[in-house]
Amino acid sequence: MDTHSFTVAIDGPAASGKGTISKAVAAHFGFAHLDTGLLYRAVGRRVLEGVDPLAAAQALTAEELAQGDLRTGEIAQAASKVAVIPEVRAALVDFQRAFARRAGGAVLDGRDIGTVICPRAEVKLFVTASAEVRAERRYLELSSKGADVTRDQVLADVRERDARDAGRSAAPMKPAEDAVMVDTTDLSIDAALDLAKSIINKKLAAQN
Ligand code: C5P
Repeated sequence: MDTHSFTVAIDGPAASGKGTISKAVAAHFGFAHLDTGLLYRAVGRRVLEGVDPLAAAQALTAEELAQGDLRTGEIAQAASKVAVIPEVRAALVDFQRAFARRAGGAVLDGRDIGTVICPRAEVKLFVTASAEVRAERRYLELSSKGADVTRDQVLADVRERDARDAGRSAAPMKPAEDAVMVDTTDLSIDAALDLAKSIINKKLAAQN
């Protein structure tokens, strides 16, 4: 284990604010950032193209994560369907753990980082918000990109994905026992970010 590694695990449901918080935390502390949802989305995209899910997961390359727009509603649903397959999840573990242990610190955000991928992460946050607030954020994001969606459709999609992600038997979405809960329903992203920074600063200070 690299003695200079420092892992921040940020889990939570879709549009909870975890991605924004993760990016900002990584930029602030100079840590590398991996949005692990992109791995499942890239596999989901391949499956929509007709590729077998396990073959797609085993052949996944880092370059694929940067190709095209993976943040569409259709790919999100396909991602959460491949994410229930234990062999697909297993094929993606080594890449995520290697990333987490890189020197200089890493932030990983997803659904199972604090519970399965990095159970010994130095800092674990679970970022949530009500389904309605998350659906409104996702609706604004998708419609600003020109997607033809309604608020009701987006809320139904968010609920369907939450149920699939939390209800699956392989690495279900849930807070680690030692995760700090951050509810962004009524908390601004800036306030949530300040909270995250202070938790990380305390942990870093305790290590020195
Ligand atoms: O976070 P994002 O919405 O991009 O994730 C897309 C899907 O990928 C999620 O709905 C979930 O099913 C899956 N996922 C997962 N474990 C992770 C990250 C994402 O199962 N660590």
